[in-house]
Amino acid sequence: MINRKILIEKYLKFFKSKNHKIIPNAPLIPENDPSALFISAGMHPLVPFLLGQKHPLGKRLVSIQKCIRTTDIEEVGDNCHHTFIEMLGNWSLGDYWKKNSIKYSLEFLTEILKIPKKEIKVTCFKGDKNSPKDIESEKIWKDLGIKKIEFLGKKENWWGPVGKTGPCGPDTEIFVKNIEIWNNVFMEYFQNKEGKLEFLKQKNVDTGMGLERTLAILKGYEDNYLTEIWMPIIKKIEEISKRKYSENKEITKIMRIIADHIKASVFILAEGIVPGNSEQSYVLRRLIRRAVRYGKKLNMKNFTISIAEPIFKIFENYEELKTNKKKILEELKKEEERFSRTLEKGLNRFQKFAKDKNELSGKQCFLLYQSFGFPIEMIEEECQKQKIKISKKDFEKANKEHQKISRTATAGRFKSGLADSSESTTKLHTAAHLLLQALKIILKKNSIVQKGSNITPERLRLDFSFSRKLTKEEIEKIENLVNAQIQNSCEVIRKEMPLKEAKKQGACGIFDKKYGDKVSVYSIGNFSKEICTGPHVKNTCELGKFKIIKEESVGAGIRRIKAILE
Ligand code: SER
Repeated sequence: MINRKILIEKYLKFFKSKNHKIIPNAPLIPENDPSALFISAGMHPLVPFLLGQKHPLGKRLVSIQKCIRTTDIEEVGDNCHHTFIEMLGNWSLGDYWKKNSIKYSLEFLTEILKIPKKEIKVTCFKGDKNSPKDIESEKIWKDLGIKKIEFLGKKENWWGPVGKTGPCGPDTEIFVKNIEIWNNVFMEYFQNKEGKLEFLKQKNVDTGMGLERTLAILKGYEDNYLTEIWMPIIKKIEEISKRKYSENKEITKIMRIIADHIKASVFILAEGIVPGNSEQSYVLRRLIRRAVRYGKKLNMKNFTISIAEPIFKIFENYEELKTNKKKILEELKKEEERFSRTLEKGLNRFQKFAKDKNELSGKQCFLLYQSFGFPIEMIEEECQKQKIKISKKDFEKANKEHQKISRTATAGRFKSGLADSSESTTKLHTAAHLLLQALKIILKKNSIVQKGSNITPERLRLDFSFSRKLTKEEIEKIENLVNAQIQNSCEVIRKEMPLKEAKKQGACGIFDKKYGDKVSVYSIGNFSKEICTGPHVKNTCELGKFKIIKEESVGAGIRRIKAILE
């Protein structure tokens, strides 16, 4: 009998037999990529390699990758959209092209998963003024005996770039029982800043198969939530709310939203993110609060940690869930309590506003929302419940404001999934390596380790282990040492080697993170050596003048430096 574990095993084994190397499931928070809040596809950690950099494990890769898709939050509630998904993917980095890609997909579906050919339908790109009709894929499918082939436009059969620029190309999508389960993208283009397509150095294949959907289909369910990766969570909601999942459409939808949001929250919390008001923290807060709000509709209170419990069992293969379980549950509970207090205060204020009146003004609406954190949807619901009028126009204004704020908080980055390998982030990335080494030397502490980094086109941020404030003199010495390396025009060289060898050579790395068997190591002259995926400049002379703009504490034993290149 098929289940999640077996499906993953079968997929990895199949592609291993086709000479693919398994790459690790990357953390949900992209590294060195300020353009995206979360990893949203299996290809995301591979962007530098799709752009032409050599991958240490070779040209054929396969993975199971955890992803968060925040664009789908509003769609959650149907049978097949989720915020947290696991994606099975295989890649060719300038190796095989359409024929093998399609052949492998079909072989896996029909011979390993035993899906009859006649149940498979595919779509191909119909072409536009920038890129031709994909008759090559059509012919391959036809030759392999697939009869149901449809040509569609850019909206359906084109993937990427997720940000403004990046690799992209036409795709062919595979449907079983009218559900799209697999997307094979033929990434031969790079979309540049002007929106024009250029050919990439190499032709890549990027495929992504939705584990949740495929599992449901194999089990003969039309509803993903009936599979074993959802049902224990739904059962827990049924138990607490004393309602039935199948009771009616509304209840089904509510239970799906709660299960989805709590699952995604558990995985985000496992990355060390806590609820807050910006970036990933804001998405997390929004998910937890939305789950609590929907829980209220089922008269559930203080329920998030009980709903989270089965998630640890379903995904027991994720170490980060096991290790951080206590903290995850604590944070969930805290946020639920915080939100309950917010709601209580907001409700009190609402009653005051509405007392003896049957109308709420736009200003009051704003105040409830902005100062009391009372969700806009709840203001509307409360008004309906208590038969209080609210000016539609005012409400819409408040709602628009709300959307604007949420959008700003996440800077349009819900959608973005591509590494920002712009010139300035690349330079700052190399500067960060120089900084780490300079810290070790000037502070005379070789045991200093990097605790985190975040690079935007404007500045670099490096967190490192150290227990006290740096003196003015030390900061100056660090700046001077980095600038000396820049003036020395050190060559930046990338070498691939087994992880063991990298460690032996004393390369720095974040060793609590998963690396593949083979890693790339960047050396900057004789000054620094780090395990890293890049990208980096070729020579430090490209960097300009290095300047530290801030040094502060970010917790016990961790300091943070922000620096720029002038
Ligand atoms: N990048 C494509 C997707 O996310 C295929 O992996 O669908």
